[in-house]
Amino acid sequence: MKNSSFFLFSFLFLITQIAFSQSHIIPKPSEITVSPDGKQIVISSKTKIVIKNKSLTSTAEFLNGYLREVYGFELTTTPVGNGKNLIVLDIQKTDNTVSGGYALSVHQNGVSIKGNDAAGVFYGMQSLLQLLPTQKSSSLSVPMVEIKDAPRFSYRGMMLDVSRHFFSVAYVKRFIDFIALHKMNVFHWHLTDDQGWRVEVKKHPKLMSISAFRDSTIVGHHPGKGKDGVRHGGYYTQEEIKEVVKYAADRFVEVIPEIEMPGHSEATLAAFPNLGCTGGPYIVAQNFGVHKEVLCAGNDDVFAFLQDVIDEIAPLFPSKYIHVGGDECPKDRWKTCAKCQKRIKDLNLKDEHELQSYFIQRMEKYINSKGKKLIGWDEILEGGLSKTAIVMSWRGEKGGIEAAKQKNTVIMTPTTYVYFDYGQVKPEDSLVIGGFLPLEKVYGYEPIPKELTADEAQYVLGGQANLWTEYVAYPSKVEYMLFPRMTALSEVLWSKKEQRNYDDFQKRLLTQFQRYDLWKVNYHKAWLNGYKK
Ligand code: ACM
Ligand code: ZN
Repeated sequence: MKNSSFFLFSFLFLITQIAFSQSHIIPKPSEITVSPDGKQIVISSKTKIVIKNKSLTSTAEFLNGYLREVYGFELTTTPVGNGKNLIVLDIQKTDNTVSGGYALSVHQNGVSIKGNDAAGVFYGMQSLLQLLPTQKSSSLSVPMVEIKDAPRFSYRGMMLDVSRHFFSVAYVKRFIDFIALHKMNVFHWHLTDDQGWRVEVKKHPKLMSISAFRDSTIVGHHPGKGKDGVRHGGYYTQEEIKEVVKYAADRFVEVIPEIEMPGHSEATLAAFPNLGCTGGPYIVAQNFGVHKEVLCAGNDDVFAFLQDVIDEIAPLFPSKYIHVGGDECPKDRWKTCAKCQKRIKDLNLKDEHELQSYFIQRMEKYINSKGKKLIGWDEILEGGLSKTAIVMSWRGEKGGIEAAKQKNTVIMTPTTYVYFDYGQVKPEDSLVIGGFLPLEKVYGYEPIPKELTADEAQYVLGGQANLWTEYVAYPSKVEYMLFPRMTALSEVLWSKKEQRNYDDFQKRLLTQFQRYDLWKVNYHKAWLNGYKK
């Protein structure tokens, strides 16, 4: 080969490689065709965004926010536009009619993103972001591609526990951005627990003055080596909650609040000792683990209190769901409490498990009266599940299988595959709760348990990862636990089952790590460093 043709060949090869690495989209789209000759177009500050439908304004704002943050420039927007160098956002039915489905075309004249609905256009825009170079530049080359895509599951969630450690509104928004950047669509906000109450309830100011703060926290792994003596806490005002909900809605993320009951309520009891079986005294918990002090199921004041809370919480969240926890409620106190035992006798209940079922079902009726549906952890199966409650299966897949067979809606979130508080290498390189959940295991998760028939599988809405924060005390640790596992989960929940392939994912993941750098996130480096379990 002559020298000049060798250079030409090398140049074309390089361009094609760049084009391919710029089509390293995660989660993997249903169909992607990259221009075989490596043709590209350029997005620069001269490119315009055409917003064909008002509901797409927030999508254009997200795109501009990203361009500004990462590349240092933004684009003018216009409701109409003809000619070249345009990014056209439009709602139009694509081949696939699923909500969130979209078609993205990068062609000679610019970019066209059509979505079945506004969410679809948003996801198409997310794919466009992943076609951009991972080096900062004011002139962004984008490979010519045709993408057709739609999500597999309608529920693609992430839970953040803000009770064990409090995170600011600004950081909660960043967490929501991570959800959006992964084409996920639910933020489950774990707002209350033994270690702190985190939402303003105007009728009960003691929740903010007492339940929202603890005086100290154990040092090291539970039960701990002493205490740090540092007051920790905080809560979100109702105005802040509304701000977060709006921020999430602009990113097509639904926020589901969780108010724990009847267990995980010691912070509440610290302010209202009359709501416990023994009358206290109680303190906002300073250690972790499962606590025996729970709300009394025989005391009607408990229900009146919780109804007050629901009265204020329900209007803050447009979601049709309210999560009531229901997990890990030891029955020790109920067994020796005269009021609880009287309730069991009066209602002819078999035992304390049926008392728990009574508790949850009584609250479900109230939640339903507000036009909302109840979600609970899989313990709500014990002692009898109502026909309408939604089960979040966390103690493995068993609860989800049982609930789907009973024709109850299910969200899969088993510890074995999606507990992001678990360690990701052995031995772990930071303090974690325990467990072992490497990247490959998350990627290998199949949310439809094989025990379900095709008909029963319809009841599985999707899945979610949970980030409990006993040992996640600050934002960079949140990110350390999330990345890259959250990226693997996004593909599990979005992409077609038959398209999932770990080797192929790993190739695309290399490019995703460059994006993490653009986002300035603190990721775990085990996979990058070649860790094999
Ligand atoms: C849970 O992890 N206790 C739901
Ligand atoms: Zn009691």
